[in-house]
Formats: sequence, structure tokens, C-alpha cells
Amino acid sequence: MAGFLSFENISKKFGRQTVLSDVSFSVEKGKIFSLLGPSGCGKTTLLRICAGLESPDSGRVILDGKDITDLVPNDRPVNTVFQNYALFPHMTIWENIAFGPRVDKRPKQEIASEVEKYLEMIQMTSHAYKKPAQLSGGMRQRVALARALINHPQVLLLDEPLAALDLKLRQRMLVELDELHDKIGITFVYVTHDQSEAMSISDDVAVMNRGIIEQMGPPAEIYEAPKSSFVAAFIGDTNFFDGTVTEITDNDYSRVQLENMGNQQMLIFNDRRLNAGDGVHVSIRPEKIDISAEPPATDRKKNILKGHVEDIIYMGNSTKFWIRVGRQLISVQKQHSAFLLDQKPIRFWLAWHADNGYILDNYQDADRSLLPINVTEPQKPEKGHKQK
Ligand SMILES: Nc1ncnc2c1ncn2[C@@H]1O[C@H](COP(=O)(O)OP(=O)(O)O)[C@@H](O)[C@H]1O
Ligand SMILES: [Mg+2]
Repeated sequence: MAGFLSFENISKKFGRQTVLSDVSFSVEKGKIFSLLGPSGCGKTTLLRICAGLESPDSGRVILDGKDITDLVPNDRPVNTVFQNYALFPHMTIWENIAFGPRVDKRPKQEIASEVEKYLEMIQMTSHAYKKPAQLSGGMRQRVALARALINHPQVLLLDEPLAALDLKLRQRMLVELDELHDKIGITFVYVTHDQSEAMSISDDVAVMNRGIIEQMGPPAEIYEAPKSSFVAAFIGDTNFFDGTVTEITDNDYSRVQLENMGNQQMLIFNDRRLNAGDGVHVSIRPEKIDISAEPPATDRKKNILKGHVEDIIYMGNSTKFWIRVGRQLISVQKQHSAFLLDQKPIRFWLAWHADNGYILDNYQDADRSLLPINVTEPQKPEKGHKQK
């Protein structure tokens, strides 16, 4: 397998619980690669396997062409930054950063100049003789970074490094981390459960769920073209529509009859080989749907629906509309839509381009629970119930 750092068929059980099942991926040299997934999906276990703190039941870890699976942690050119910083509380910042080079018995003069260099890199020179407890969370995390980087690892593993910080600081630290990465150019493996962190900092993201990788790729691809209901719902908001293919219109599009919306037929992008009669699940992002009080202009590839307003939530930078079409609640998110609120319409027109609907390869009903509200009501209509 190509790549600078490769995980090949890694499996791991704790007791009878399978925590990783046959995980394979590789990271390109100098890139930021994120492992993104909910708590308990196995992210930390993968990092610990990479650092040598845990050994896999099967599979290999290859770094720069060398099999490092059986090396002890100290023999691996890998360092880890943890969420809780793990600084030595009784040591000064200077001593914390000097710890690795001192253990390696590097010459005193070299250690001093290296520590100065890394203190400067994290803009902490004036805090060199403080103890960790005298620093803010953000500063402590910068020290933890310097303490790892001074060992010149080939790979830096970051396990939820910003999770203990508040939102504003987290956003600023992300920018700092990105700049630091540009400066030193080594490979980062970044673990987080926060999709916005992973999306903003990564070259590539692997979305994990219950010990497997559901999808891997650049952030935009993961967001724009989710392959599974888990990925679609975990990363951003989405709408799920259930339907049946009624017609393959040409190679790239299918006509799909949507279950909860009466007899509405929608044109959906389809690069899979589906047949008429196949049941499908479709994901459409709330911001990909246009909303208007007047009927929109028609277009061959545009889907148009009329629905009733269920709720409108003004959120400042955008507005969220919940629109009911038949038994389906559709979420629509728009910026600059305050003008629509003034009109107080009870009905709206929704429209989206066929390319914005994704037929999912892998659909699990449980993944609907990841959505802010269950967008389809679970009850079946009573017999003879008429749809509006
Ligand atoms: N040393 C361990 N012994 C037993 N179970 C563990 C151990 N480490 C992790 N686990 C379990 O493995 C699963 C994955 O844990 P972890 O890799 O920490 O997930 P994440 O970092 O994605 O939250 C969890 O169910 C966790 O309880
Ligand atoms: Mg973890």
C-alpha cells in the first residue's frame, strides 16, 4: 500500500468487544490526516497502536517503508499530544520542553538552543520559567506541542488536543496548529469527534464508526458526496428521503418516487447501476435546497415541491425552515433570508438541482437519530388517510 504511514488490516479486541475491525488506510507524507468519529468508535485505540502503547491483534503499521508494529514506543519516530496536555506539573515550561532531549542525552548547549527555538515558535519565550498551573489551557497545549515537536518526530499524533478549550480559543488554536504544521512540514494524524475541526484542518479525513472506516477522502468530498447515512448525518445536517427508482432517465440520473411525499417523483443523480423497482435512500443537504414564496422557474434538472411551513428558526447568520411535504419534514437552511420572514407565508416552494441529491450506498435506519430532529415521522398513516 502506498503512503508514508500505513495501517494495514488492523483489528483489535478488548475482551470480547471488537474495537477495530480490519482497518486500513494510509497517510501521505507532510499532510494532516484526521480520524473523525463519535466517542467510543476506536480513534484513540488506533493512535495508541501507532504510538506503540497498544498492540493490534492482527495487522501491521508501516512507517516510511519500515514495519514498526512490534517496536517499543521509544524506538518509534512518533510523538503524541493528548487532550489533557500531560505536562509535568513540578517542572517549569523550559524544563518540560527540554525533557525529551535530556532523556536522549543531547549536548547541553544544543538542548538550550533547541528549547529557545521551540519556545519562540509557540510564542512562549516570556513564560519559560512559569509552571504549567500558571498558564491558560491554550498555552499549556502549545507547550505540549513544543514538547513533542522538539523530539523531531516523523509523525505527530494529536488526540483531541483542543477538546478541553472553549469554542473561540479552539478556533484560534486550529489556525495556530495549521500554521505550525506549515512551518515544520511533518505528518500530523489528528483525532477528533468534532466535524468542524476535522473539516477545517485536514487534507484528508477518515470517518470512523464502531471500529470501521465508513468513508475516507478530502473534506469537501466527504461533505458533498457522503456514501453512507452515517457520514451524511454525522457531518453536517441532512435530509433523508426514502424512495423507489421508477425510471433510469440516462446514465447519470434516475427518477425516484419518494415514499413520504405522495406521488412526487424526483430526479436524482445516480452514478450507480440501479434498476427500476430498487429501493433507495437519498440525502440532500439543507443548504442545497432553494426556498421561495413564489413558484421558481422550471428547469429539466430541477426538482420542485410545494410545502407548508412547520417552523422557522432565525439564527442570525442563517435561517432554518422546517417545511412539511406530505408526511416528510424537510429542513432548509438559507443565508440572507430575513426578507422571507417578513412575508410570513404559510406555503413555500422548494427546489433543488438533481446533482444535489445523493443516493446512499449504505443506509442504516439508526443513523437518522444523529439528525437534530427525526426528519421523518415514524408512524405509518392510517388506512384511508388522505395526504394534503
Ligand atoms: N484498555 C481498554 N480496555 C478495555 N476497553 C477499552 C480499552 N481502551 C478502549 N476500550 C474500549 O474501546 C472502545 C473504543 O475506545 P477508544 O479507542 O478510546 O474510542 P474513541 O477514542 O474513539 O472515543 C470503547 O468502547 C472503549 O471503552
Ligand atoms: Mg479518544
